[in-house]
Amino acid sequence: MSNQRKLVLFIATSLDGYIATKNESLDWLFKVEGEGDNGYSEFYETVDTILMGRRTYDWIMNQETEDFPYRNKECYVFSRSVNEDNKDVKFVNENIVDFTNQLKNKDGKNIWIVGGGELLHSFVKEKLVDELILTVAPTLIGTGISLFKEDNYQLDLSLKGIRHFNQFVELHYEVKK
Ligand SMILES: NC(=O)c1ccc[n+]([C@@H]2O[C@H](COP(=O)([O-])OP(=O)(O)OC[C@H]3O[C@@H](n4cnc5c(N)ncnc54)[C@H](OP(=O)(O)O)[C@@H]3O)[C@@H](O)[C@H]2O)c1
Repeated sequence: MSNQRKLVLFIATSLDGYIATKNESLDWLFKVEGEGDNGYSEFYETVDTILMGRRTYDWIMNQETEDFPYRNKECYVFSRSVNEDNKDVKFVNENIVDFTNQLKNKDGKNIWIVGGGELLHSFVKEKLVDELILTVAPTLIGTGISLFKEDNYQLDLSLKGIRHFNQFVELHYEVKK
């Protein structure tokens, strides 16, 4: 086994596999009755580096929160169109395999891939994700931005744990290598 740090997907999904509606609403998610912060701060302590797609970054920036939520972490936003870093994030347009392997070989805590679905797809296809923690909402939304995309790939997983936070179920998987 390598002692590389891990790339972990921690994401909330509807039971039918969507991470947002087509118009990027998460109202269906926020109205679910959870428990505490549904394991968020516990997970957040395990990472020091964060990866996300440009549309997820835009979604965060459009929320009415004053501070960037991941200010104390090293945060990378993948984009082929934006490259102006700011005090909170660095924009990346590099080969994701090389970039991720370099990150994994550094010392530190684990790396969180926040999403969204498009960025995640490249990482899943390249088998770069080591663990998946899915927080499943008891909701079917029928259509939206899907967590996993249709394509030719297979990832075999091993179940590490199940918890529930009131109405949410957390599924924790490790990717078999
Ligand atoms: N339920 C949850 O927990 C959760 C978590 C995360 C996100 N979300 C939601 O997901 C939605 C966004 O997801 P999304 O799938 O539409 O978009 P996304 O994956 O967040 O971002 C897609 C963008 O990332 C860039 N990108 C993707 N792959 C790349 C690569 N290999 N190299 C360089 N850049 C790359 C491109 O940016 P450019 O167009 O700039 O080139 C692309 O348009 C938002 O509504 C967000 O709220 C939900």
